[in-house]
Amino acid sequence: MKRIAVIGLGQRIAHVLAAMDETGWTFEIAGHVDPAPVGLPILADAGLSPGRAFADVAGLLAAGPYDLVMIGSPNHLHLPHLEAALVAGFPVFAEKPIVRTIEESYTLARRLTHPGTPPLFIGLVMRSMPLVREVIARVDSGELGELVSMDATEHLHPEHGAYLARNWRRKAEWGGSFMLDKVCHDFDIFGRLVGARPARVASFGGRRIFHPGRAQDPQTYENGEPAYALRDSGWMAANDAFHSDMDLFDHQTAIVNYANGVALAFHSNSHVNLQERRWYLAGTRGTLVADLVRNRMLYRPALDRRRPEKLDFATRTADLHNGADQAMAADLLAALENRAPFPVTAWDSLEAGLTVMAIDEAALSGQVVDCAPIWAQLDAARAGHGHDVSRRAGP
Ligand SMILES: NC(=O)c1ccc[n+]([C@@H]2O[C@H](COP(=O)([O-])OP(=O)(O)OC[C@H]3O[C@@H](n4cnc5c(N)ncnc54)[C@H](O)[C@@H]3O)[C@@H](O)[C@H]2O)c1
Repeated sequence: MKRIAVIGLGQRIAHVLAAMDETGWTFEIAGHVDPAPVGLPILADAGLSPGRAFADVAGLLAAGPYDLVMIGSPNHLHLPHLEAALVAGFPVFAEKPIVRTIEESYTLARRLTHPGTPPLFIGLVMRSMPLVREVIARVDSGELGELVSMDATEHLHPEHGAYLARNWRRKAEWGGSFMLDKVCHDFDIFGRLVGARPARVASFGGRRIFHPGRAQDPQTYENGEPAYALRDSGWMAANDAFHSDMDLFDHQTAIVNYANGVALAFHSNSHVNLQERRWYLAGTRGTLVADLVRNRMLYRPALDRRRPEKLDFATRTADLHNGADQAMAADLLAALENRAPFPVTAWDSLEAGLTVMAIDEAALSGQVVDCAPIWAQLDAARAGHGHDVSRRAGP
């Protein structure tokens, strides 16, 4: 029976715990810290008890030992919560983005090099998706030849966009940025597929959807059903997506030039009614489209006139994770029990976050950002210690 502590018992960690339960973990939630746990109804639906409510993180950690400390707090709290859990010495699972700013990334990188740092697993859940594993395997096999260019999208339906505009994610001080919270997953996979870090990035974004000037626009569907009211917006929620104090973008585009020459164009919008999350990979010998919404992959060699190969991955779920949560729960158990490495490292997670942070810097400054200084600082923070804590064996 694994003993688990939770810091930030929100919707996400509750879903991960439910997936762990579904996939055969035997565990108890020994305790949690959360001023107003939004995830309680999800845990209750899964038949899981939240354990003892502690007033603060120090009290929770002092009541260890734990087999796993799970962090699901808003993004600005990840660094202090990670620092506390790592000092306590228990294995940690933390939600993405690993941290919220460039400086926090360097601070955590330095912290990860301390001897005796426990294993750290980051919830970049797409790494566990069977479709994504297939895409990575195809690219690694050389089937596509050399990867030349890619385009990708992440388009959210209006309810999801409105949730982001009401929830704590609407403000930079809590969420970081629109793209950091939503698409650090995708940029983690792009970095993995390309096999190089971004050299230069440019980006444009704005707040043109959820702002007071649009508050008089229709807020019902054509059949009279109310729009924009999907779910509880939780901690620090605002009442109205159009009148909130949001200071982040609601749509953004980016272009990335990777150090090995691969080019990427990315388009994201939070108010579409043709939902899409799609990666289009063009290699010298083949073309691959991954449709993450329909959980489907299309592939055809560049010089082949036969029908494209179509792979349908069976699982489609309403959360659009399409079975990834369950797959990640299995990966996490295997990593904790030293049966297999977790599919993504803390260092990968830092690089994915820094890539998006560089993109945001480009969008805010209106300049092309040269990423070399960012990587130099990350490498300096890591220098001399060479090992990656997230690849180390569990206790
Ligand atoms: N991997 C994924 O696909 C995925 C999906 C959704 C969210 N997330 C990440 O999970 C994290 C949580 O997001 P969420 O959607 O569950 O948000 P949420 O608002 O549902 O949950 C956040 C929880 O943190 C709690 N909290 C606030 N201050 C706290 C404090 N000082 N100490 C402890 N808890 C505190 C809130 O009360 C709330 O219950 C975020 O980092 C988010 O980016 C990841």
